[in-house]
Amino acid sequence: MAVYALPLFAYVLGGLLASVAAQSEYGQCGGIGWTGGITCPTGWVCTDLNPYYSQCLQDTSSGTTTAAPTSTSAPSSTSTSATSTLTGIAASAPTIGPSHDVGKLPALGWNSWNAYGCNINETKVLNAANQFISLGLADAGYEYINIDDCWPLTTRDASTGRIVPDPSKFPNGISGVAEKVHALGFKFGIYSDAGTATCAGFPGSLGNEELDAATFAEWGVDYLKYDNCNVPGNWSDAGNPPGGDWYNSNSAIRYRQMTAAMNETGRPFHFSLCIWGNANVWDWGARVGHSWRMSGDSSASWSYITSIITTNVQHLDSIDFYSHNDMDMMEIGNGALTIQEQRTHFAAWVFLKSPILLGTDLSLLNSTQLDIITNPELLAFHQDATIGTPAAPFTPTAGATTPSPPEFYAGTSSKGTHVFVINTNSTALTKTFDFANVPGLGSGSFVVHDMWTGKDLGTFTTSYSTTVDTHDTAALFIKPA
Ligand code: GLA
Repeated sequence: MAVYALPLFAYVLGGLLASVAAQSEYGQCGGIGWTGGITCPTGWVCTDLNPYYSQCLQDTSSGTTTAAPTSTSAPSSTSTSATSTLTGIAASAPTIGPSHDVGKLPALGWNSWNAYGCNINETKVLNAANQFISLGLADAGYEYINIDDCWPLTTRDASTGRIVPDPSKFPNGISGVAEKVHALGFKFGIYSDAGTATCAGFPGSLGNEELDAATFAEWGVDYLKYDNCNVPGNWSDAGNPPGGDWYNSNSAIRYRQMTAAMNETGRPFHFSLCIWGNANVWDWGARVGHSWRMSGDSSASWSYITSIITTNVQHLDSIDFYSHNDMDMMEIGNGALTIQEQRTHFAAWVFLKSPILLGTDLSLLNSTQLDIITNPELLAFHQDATIGTPAAPFTPTAGATTPSPPEFYAGTSSKGTHVFVINTNSTALTKTFDFANVPGLGSGSFVVHDMWTGKDLGTFTTSYSTTVDTHDTAALFIKPA
């Protein structure tokens, strides 16, 4: 019987087995095939990240999380200098930054995981690439075709030490798929893990970074998603990092080693840190990669959408060119999200400049869903080449209180000022904001334009009111009349 580690199960059993040593902070505590311990240290909770992996994460509900050090912004150069006062592994860890030949804008693409899990093969991947063309996604700017976990055999090649693509899934190897994806005009991404094994139990790259980066470069890989499962105990973060800077934490160093290995290949890689919001990654992610996951895995649910927005709005300072908080892969086309919820899902990933990696069998999308994910005005905001910062919450009218997640956001693109209004309520509601309260506007008359339909809604003075359907998002461009 497969063992799914449920947090509740872990709590209960943890109580019964109080004398058993707890797993380490960030250590594995459950998942399919896991036979180790399932209790976490005090203040840490065994959290299901996916069926294969549960991990001890800080219990944010108890207020015991470590205070975040001062935020850092995106680097202006691609390398940073080492601090001489550091000791141990932090003193000698590589400090080279990610390539800035790629990754300026949040990635637009497709990833196999939410659609197929481990059930992947060359045909499915190439179908997605061909559908990028036939469905108009290529013309809309979608660029990356990415394979997730489960592409290799479970053991490395005994003589070369290389990871081996599973020939039953990829009969032409990974280089064969990459070549075909490139020939169709797209970039190609792959997946590995900053531990000894991936979340589904395939070879990880910790300790093999140079060999694996060289192999991926040779195969023509353009993008690496680097996961965080199966981290050996000696690599876990014990309390505060050296010097109080999480860039010098063991977690960050596991990722820094891969950044350096990719740099050595001479091939620019887009580097996606799948670190689930651990180790204050928003403070150092841009020194190591181009984007970083802010949470555990997404689900096709309204509660996931609101919770990841709530998390992300606390870390908007870390978002800019080459520096993106990753709200996880898209669920449009999966589960039972309403069309309004799918619009909010897309709009929020757009205005918070998250990578947008479609995560469904693209042939199942209907025309309404395709219209959402190819909307030219929203994609133009997301891919704006002159303004990299996201929209941020604002107070719509004097004295209004801000719910969680906030409902009103204002942002700037090269065109001007945009306002996004989410209705988190379970009924349609009229939403009003005063122009004077929108950063960048002021009092006066403005033409309000609907980004979803591409149509002007009229000229308004002082304030604008609109009915927003339950869980829908209004997306507006506002220009002086
Ligand atoms: C983790 C990641 C997911 C996916 C799976 C694959 O859970 O967060 O996005 O890559 O591993 O096993």
